[in-house]
Amino acid sequence: MDRTAQLTSRASAHPIAYDPPPVPRSLHVRAVRVLEDNWTGASTVPSRSLYPHQWSWDSAFIAIGLRHLSPLRAQTELETLLAAQWADGRIPHIVFNPSVPLDAYFPSPDFWRSSTAGRAAGAPRTVQTSGIVQPPVHALAAWLVHCADPGLSRARGFLARVYPSLAAWHRYLLHRRDLGGAGLASVVHPWEQGMDNSPCWDAPLSRVVPAPARSFRRADLDHGAAEDRPTDLDYGRYVRLATDYRDGGYADGTAQFAVEDPAFNALLIASEHALARIAGELGATGTARHARAQRLTTALVDRLWDPASGMFLCRDIRDGNGTLIPERSVSGLVPLLLPDLPRDIATALVRTVRGPHFGLGATTRLPPSYDLLGEAFDPHRYWRGPAWFNTSWLIERGLRIHGEQEHADALREAFLDTADSSGFAEYVDPYTGEPCGAPGFGWTAALTLDLLHARPGDGVTSAGTGTFDMSEKGGNRG
Ligand code: SER
Repeated sequence: MDRTAQLTSRASAHPIAYDPPPVPRSLHVRAVRVLEDNWTGASTVPSRSLYPHQWSWDSAFIAIGLRHLSPLRAQTELETLLAAQWADGRIPHIVFNPSVPLDAYFPSPDFWRSSTAGRAAGAPRTVQTSGIVQPPVHALAAWLVHCADPGLSRARGFLARVYPSLAAWHRYLLHRRDLGGAGLASVVHPWEQGMDNSPCWDAPLSRVVPAPARSFRRADLDHGAAEDRPTDLDYGRYVRLATDYRDGGYADGTAQFAVEDPAFNALLIASEHALARIAGELGATGTARHARAQRLTTALVDRLWDPASGMFLCRDIRDGNGTLIPERSVSGLVPLLLPDLPRDIATALVRTVRGPHFGLGATTRLPPSYDLLGEAFDPHRYWRGPAWFNTSWLIERGLRIHGEQEHADALREAFLDTADSSGFAEYVDPYTGEPCGAPGFGWTAALTLDLLHARPGDGVTSAGTGTFDMSEKGGNRG
């Protein structure tokens, strides 16, 4: 039996069972239905139409929600992704499903050519993947999945099996991707950071010569409205960067686009804290990892904190001077989820998310992906203004960690209302909640389940404890 079939049969041998939660049943049932519809037997697609394969950070967020539905399926979600890890430690941003037609998504496996172009970097032979990465949410997800059912996790040796892969993943990011030499990881493509079309990339992308429009055919426009998606010019630049990376054998170090991003690094730090907890559960000491996470937090503040903006910014390390990019994106608020953040910085971030640039609690329902007052702001265009549910979930968590329970409760309510009224949209207009992008989006449904199970007032670890809001001892969060 091949690995996928094994995982599938194990998953289906374990029926989905959960106690009826004290939450609005209908919303719960609708969220579960999205996850059922998007489940392929071994993993979950973000969207049946727009994204018909397995995406890396989507799967991590999806596992965080799935743990409330079926801890086994949540474990399987992560195991399927990790089975496609490259020998150099990278976790690819897409794992392709061979039964999906090549033209259903671009760039398809014949563009990335992982098993040939990625051979020197250790791409797997049996599965086709992309060659770039996405934000490292995985160790955090693995720990939270474990906490949902520690008995099952221990019986299956879940953490013992995923720990070496997650440790190799972090090693790859901390060594091969420290392109700025200051300890932080760099992304070498806007798709790696996940917020593909953010105005933060406009300056670094302007130096990239776009691939000619006739050299590729976009599949995203078959499923998403053109005014909600990136422009052809930006797509040409994405394709150029990916082509060059592939043609260089996916070797790191020479990329013409290289940016230190606050959300990517904050998630790496949060996951490093999670890895320390996983090591502890496996009988080792997590002290060195916690200490490394704290050093990374210091590097994040030193390199990316901008006191004048009251938030973190991206650093362009290929512009000749390594300057901070003067654009406010939701990425710069995500480090709020770090418990060891200096108190004054956490306070400033809370002020910024509630201030005129993001409008939370005043003009917007959910934190917009980009500055409401920025020149490039567009409430519908991919990552140039709309609100996303994963970043809202991270900020909700950050508010709670830093003792802002009232604001966190309000954001949780707005999240649940908007997820429901938008049909679990991929993203929404931050002012009106109008749905954009794909409907029935995996992480929107999964994180809805997570917030439904995490009731306001649950005991969540506060700042300064050196733990990462992960004192879950089994059962639900809190
Ligand atoms: N998010 C990208 C897309 O839109 C790539 O992962 O296809």
